[in-house]
Amino acid sequence: MEIDIKKVMYRMEELYDCGIQEDGCHTRMAFSKEDTKARDIFMDYFRQIGIEPQVDPAGNIIARMGGKYPDLPAVVMGSHLDTVPDGGKYDGVLGCVGGLAVMEAYKESGQKPKHPMEVIVFTDEEGFRFGSGMFGSAAICGEETDISGTDLDVYGEVREQVLERFGISLEEALKSKRREDSIHCFLELHIEQGARLDKSSTPIGIVTSIAGVSRSEVQITGEANHSGSTAMGDRKDALVTAADIIATLPQIVKEHGQEFTVATVGTIKVLPGSVNVIAGSCTFSLEIRDQSDDVVRNLEELTAEYIGKACKNNGCSYSLKKISYHDPSPMTRWITDEIEKAVKELGIEYKKIPSGAFHDSLIMAAVFPTGMIFVPSVGGISHSRHEFTGEEDIQRGIEVLLKTVQQVDNMNLSC
Ligand code: GLV
Ligand code: MN
Ligand code: MN
Repeated sequence: MEIDIKKVMYRMEELYDCGIQEDGCHTRMAFSKEDTKARDIFMDYFRQIGIEPQVDPAGNIIARMGGKYPDLPAVVMGSHLDTVPDGGKYDGVLGCVGGLAVMEAYKESGQKPKHPMEVIVFTDEEGFRFGSGMFGSAAICGEETDISGTDLDVYGEVREQVLERFGISLEEALKSKRREDSIHCFLELHIEQGARLDKSSTPIGIVTSIAGVSRSEVQITGEANHSGSTAMGDRKDALVTAADIIATLPQIVKEHGQEFTVATVGTIKVLPGSVNVIAGSCTFSLEIRDQSDDVVRNLEELTAEYIGKACKNNGCSYSLKKISYHDPSPMTRWITDEIEKAVKELGIEYKKIPSGAFHDSLIMAAVFPTGMIFVPSVGGISHSRHEFTGEEDIQRGIEVLLKTVQQVDNMNLSC
């Protein structure tokens, strides 16, 4: 079976173009018109090979190809099409286009898999719009989440309305839950988004585990006052307090974190937001990730302690709202073994590595046998327009995906 790499590369460009913004950035925010355009084009790719994709109540696109034995659970591939602001060409798209290329290779060879085969495009993986991601995979897995219809997006729009425009209701989305025995396994091909593979010139990574993620919103409240007439000693400056906290984060991670611990403040809002007014309020996001649940929890406590201390020192108060929490998750051992077998048979160098980025595989692994294949990100750059993975690496990644699919399709079947 052959992968048509030229078609893959063309499709990645075409999907990237869907995100073009007036300022030249490329963004396919979940539930936006750009996201919708890419999803429509992607569904058409399947129609061109004679498959009519379905959309489940959570908005997940599911393209299914029948197998020789329709009652067997499906071999599922996939990833996401939504992006972060000014994102790149590869994050998420690769796993979707790669899954399609595998299905197309089966179609064109005239060979039918034994198991039904599916490609899933998960809804809102990135989660930057509402602050919490993996909406579609959580629905498929029946995971309980902290999301609510009243959550506000980055523009202040209510989640319920945004979803309604997209044809989703939170209640109906629960119906997307899949039975455990309906999926044989889930395989996600993705760019590494870190530098381990690129630095060591290793073409394939086999993911061992995915970091857990804690996301909160911190609001510091001080006192808005005149910037010219309020003496430095009389101020309750919310921004100065936030700055102290943010600048201390790396130190807290250094002292109490482990090899893969990271903490990030990625958004900040200052009110009232005037050049001549001391900040009365400062709200920022706080994200902590690690491969160990204990480390994440400990860091949550230590940061909260420091936030309290900094507020006290500056005459401010604070509130800390939990946005989402996902436990770290190992990938399924028998799947990583199958990927390793495929890579070895293809004679490709590989490394076993953890993922610091999260993926729908983090959620899927809790319910279904799950594994991830990584290809290098040049310079370790991702969530950026400078994200780049070469054609040869993409081809190798899809070939590993295809080989793994062929293996798992033949497992435990004498027929
Ligand atoms: C998703 O890509 C994330 O790790 O934030
Ligand atoms: Mn991704
Ligand atoms: Mn991403």
